[in-house]
Amino acid sequence: MHTPVLLEEVVRAFKDVPAGIIFDGTSGFGGHDEALLASREDIEIVATDVDQDALSYAQKRLANYGKRFCAYKENFSNIARVLDLEKINRLSGILLDLGVSSLQFDNAEKGFSFMHDGPLRMTMGDNTPIDAYQVVNEWEEESIESILRGYGEERFARKIAHAIVEAREVAPIKTTFELRDLVIGCYPSFMRKGRINPATKTFQAIRIAVNDELGVLNRILVEAPRFVIQDGVIAIISFHSLEDRIVKHAFRSLADGGKGEIITKRPIVATEEEIMANSRSRSAKLRIFKLHAY
Ligand SMILES: C[S@@+](CC[C@H](N)C(=O)[O-])C[C@H]1O[C@@H](n2cnc3c(N)ncnc32)[C@H](O)[C@@H]1O
Repeated sequence: MHTPVLLEEVVRAFKDVPAGIIFDGTSGFGGHDEALLASREDIEIVATDVDQDALSYAQKRLANYGKRFCAYKENFSNIARVLDLEKINRLSGILLDLGVSSLQFDNAEKGFSFMHDGPLRMTMGDNTPIDAYQVVNEWEEESIESILRGYGEERFARKIAHAIVEAREVAPIKTTFELRDLVIGCYPSFMRKGRINPATKTFQAIRIAVNDELGVLNRILVEAPRFVIQDGVIAIISFHSLEDRIVKHAFRSLADGGKGEIITKRPIVATEEEIMANSRSRSAKLRIFKLHAY
């Protein structure tokens, strides 16, 4: 099961928003949505997720809330289309809990993790134009190097990109373990046994590229605030520094434009207790913005 991170903090973020509809762009297994619906009777949730398995689970889990929960298999960057379908033009809030769920991550078939041997996929939904196999086996060396550096902040980006291209000339790189071992081989031996696996940054970079994770986050941050009514909030949980930076800058420019106020001067992070119980929460950062009249 996927354990929702910063659950109480999310419920608290929406405690005082005006009655109405909350858009949850990353409904996943519906953990946050269940807690939100239980916390207040005067809110409804319109949700999206690109992963059909997660959506089906959430729909069953929240069936007892009837019309108060409805979910679409859509990218959250298509928020305007979803609201149009639902004939909604005003929201009391927006929630995003970015990234992949534990279930996606641990499913070897989805190919997200170097801990499980599986095909190089890394697509969150089934509508993604590219997958990790194509990035690794078809992209130019310079493009691979550029995402490893830009999205992975990987200091051995050039060496890894070169090793990938050399290896695929012999045979395609088909599995997560093949890619993991190749990346480890690019690290100096004294750095191979640290707490963090050397393949972490490469896998993160490829996942971000495959799912255009920074692009869709930028798009919703431009598109969505205009739907949120006065005293409504936008709450976003991110799991790596690139996403957090985008959220921080977007909130700052909304505040500078007089659209509202930043509630979290510093991001809210998990307590030691939560980190002990759920290691995924270690890197979670929650930022909250409250809208004035738009
Ligand atoms: C961390 S999980 C969310 C878990 C959820 N809050 C819960 O309590 O169960 C992230 C979910 O967002 C989905 N997702 C990620 N990026 C998305 C996007 N751009 N559009 C729609 N869904 C997305 C993933 O498929 C995954 O199910």
